[in-house]
Parts: sequence; C-alpha cells; structure tokens
Amino acid sequence: MSDGLENVVAAQTVLSEVDGAAGRLILRGHALEDIAGHTDFAQAVRLMFDGFFPDLPSDADLAAALGLARVEVFGEVAALDKTLVSRSPTEALRALMARLADGDDLATALRLLAAPAVFTPAIVRAQRGLAPLAPDAALPHAQDILRMMSGKTTGTKQAAALDAYLVTVCDHGLNASTFAARVVASTRAGLTSAVLAGLSALKGPLHGGAPGPVIDMLDEIGDAAHAKAWLEAALERGDRLMGFGHRIYRVRDPRADALKRAIRKLDATAGRLAYAEAVEAAALAILRERKPNRSLQTNVEFYTALLLEALAFPPDTFTCVFAMGRTIGWLAHAREQIAGGKLVRPQSIYIGPMPKQAA
Ligand code: ACO
Repeated sequence: MSDGLENVVAAQTVLSEVDGAAGRLILRGHALEDIAGHTDFAQAVRLMFDGFFPDLPSDADLAAALGLARVEVFGEVAALDKTLVSRSPTEALRALMARLADGDDLATALRLLAAPAVFTPAIVRAQRGLAPLAPDAALPHAQDILRMMSGKTTGTKQAAALDAYLVTVCDHGLNASTFAARVVASTRAGLTSAVLAGLSALKGPLHGGAPGPVIDMLDEIGDAAHAKAWLEAALERGDRLMGFGHRIYRVRDPRADALKRAIRKLDATAGRLAYAEAVEAAALAILRERKPNRSLQTNVEFYTALLLEALAFPPDTFTCVFAMGRTIGWLAHAREQIAGGKLVRPQSIYIGPMPKQAA
C-alpha cells in the first residue's frame, strides 16, 4: 500500500506530464515556458480540449462562444444571497457552480469555464456591497474578468499577466483535484459533478488553498530582515511554510519562474518582488537546514500569491482564480476518462475487528 498513493500510476493521459526530477511541465507537447505568456485563455482551451469535443470551434469562434457562455451563466449570480456572501469566496463559488446543470457536451463545458470567471468578481463585489457587473461577450476572457472585478477597462498588460497565470495552472498531471474530477467522471455523473469534485479538492490548504496564506506570511514578516526569525518560529511551532514543497517536484517548480516572468512585466511590482525573493531565499535556506533529507523547493503558490495580489484580487479569492484556470484541465481529464476509462474503484485492506464466530 502507498501512503497518499505516492508513485501509484492511476491513469494514462495525453494532456500533461510533470517531470519532478527535471523540473519540467509539458502541456500537450509544449514546454510550459513556450506557451505561458504566449497563449491566451481561449487558445489554451482549444489546445487542451482538442480531440475531446467533436464540435470544438476554431480559436476565434471559441473565444466568442466563451463570451456568450459568460453572459449565459451571469443569471445565476442572482442566487448570491446574504448567507453565501458571508461564506468564503470558494464556498460561495462552489454553491453557485452547483446550480449549473450536468451534461457531457461542449456547451456544458463552456458554462463551467465561464462560471468561476463570472461568479468570482460578482462575489468580491457583493462582499464590498457593490452590484455585480454583467459580462461583455465581446471582450477577451481575461480582460473581461478584470473589468467585472474593478468596473474599469483594464490595460492589456494586466490581461496578459492574468492569461499567463491561467495558462500556467491550466493542468498539472494527476494532482489531487484532477484525480477527484476523474473519479467522478468515471461514474458518468457528468462534467458539472466532476468539476465540483475538483473544486472541492482544490480548496484545501495543501493544494490550491495555499496562496492566500502566502500573502498572510509575507505581510506578517513585514521586513526581509525579520524573515529568518519569523520562519524559524513557524517551523518550531510545527507549521508548514506555505508556497514550499511538492509531492512530485524535487527541484524548482517551473511554474514559479513562469509566474515570476509575468510579474516582472507588470508596473510597480519591483519592490514587492524583491522583498518576496528575499523571504523565499531565507525560507529555502532554513528548509535545507531543517529538512536535509527532503528537497523542499518553491512551488507554484508562492508567485501565484504575488501575481494575483498585483492584479488586485483579494487573497481569499486566490483559490477561485486558480479554479478559473484549472477548470480547463478538469474538463479535459473528465472527457479523457469518460472516453477511455473504466469506473475508478480501488480496494482497501480491512484492518478492523472480525465478527465473532458462533459457538
Ligand atoms: N514546510 C515545512 N515542512 C514541509 C513542507 C513545508 N512547506 N512541505 C513538506 N514539509 C516536510 C513535512 O513536514 C515532512 O517532514 P517530516 O518527514 O520530518 O515529517 C516532509 O517534508 C514530507 O512532507 P509530506 O507531507 O510527506 O510531503 P508531501 O509530498 O505529501 O507534501 C505538500 C506536499 C502537501 C505540498 C507539502 O509540501 C506542503 O504542505 N506544502 C505547504 C502547502 C503548499 O504550499 N501547498 C501548495 C502545493 S502546490 C499545489 O498543490 C498547487
């Protein structure tokens, strides 16, 4: 038996490969660094969905269909009541997404891609006492997300940075949320059910819930000169340093550098980036010293936090923004599982008491 299914192969996929020893991520035949920063959201959807939906349109038509899907799901925002607004954004997002009908077709998939993009800005605005802004179907996906958040037309630099982020996180092998999505898809429950399983798994702090706490850590440390003492005290308490360590990567997560490149292209991030790099260096030195037998490196969540902060997403919505990108992977994996896979049904070893034998 393998604890946490470590090293267990549970699927064959054409979607992505994570090479943890080389620090390399391949998405459908492309190295991450060749597509992140060069591909927008709709192009990434086209790349990942190719062969999984018979009626997949061309890039331009897909961008237009995504725009219409954003408009279509906007009606669900009316269900955002006081109770949901008082919950965490991820829980509110999950509740709104659960309102979408199940199905296996491209129209269902497009609604699921549109949902976190439309619902997250609406949740943020509702928490601030502001009315939601309707999507603009004519805008590119990333630009429309930023406009629905801020109410202003955002610059192309910001939209390009958000595209770089969403493409960087769109898929990553058989991570916990993708595995959860594939298990549900294998029962033929439908794409909405599979995506909700993925979102529920992503929510945890050991997976997609880490970047918010990264900002808390940076804010609490406050000054690079205090980093060593703060980080040592955290490890003394038995805390994990958020944004470090990975099940597969034993070298640096290539997504961290893809995101750092995207942050550098934004104005006015230089000071914050330099500070974060100093904290990162201190954390890596302490982790090397304290855990010499385990190579703990910076993971995707550390620079996710800085990029999404620079784009003015509140830290408690970072997991929702992660879901905007990762939904591409959940959907493609769900379709791949349905096309070729059996029902996922592993076994367990019973270690409880046996029934008493009759005398
Ligand atoms: N800080 C301090 N110690 C750590 C960290 C960390 N970030 N990560 C792992 N360790 C230590 C563990 O305490 C453990 O030490 P021990 O052997 O002395 O008990 C050892 O390294 C191995 O830890 P495991 O939990 O067995 O390793 P696993 O491969 O399951 O962990 C995980 C991967 C969950 C990501 C872990 O590194 C972690 O908790 N990181 C912090 C949270 C985080 O950044 N999550 C985002 C991950 S990226 C993503 O999912 C998108």
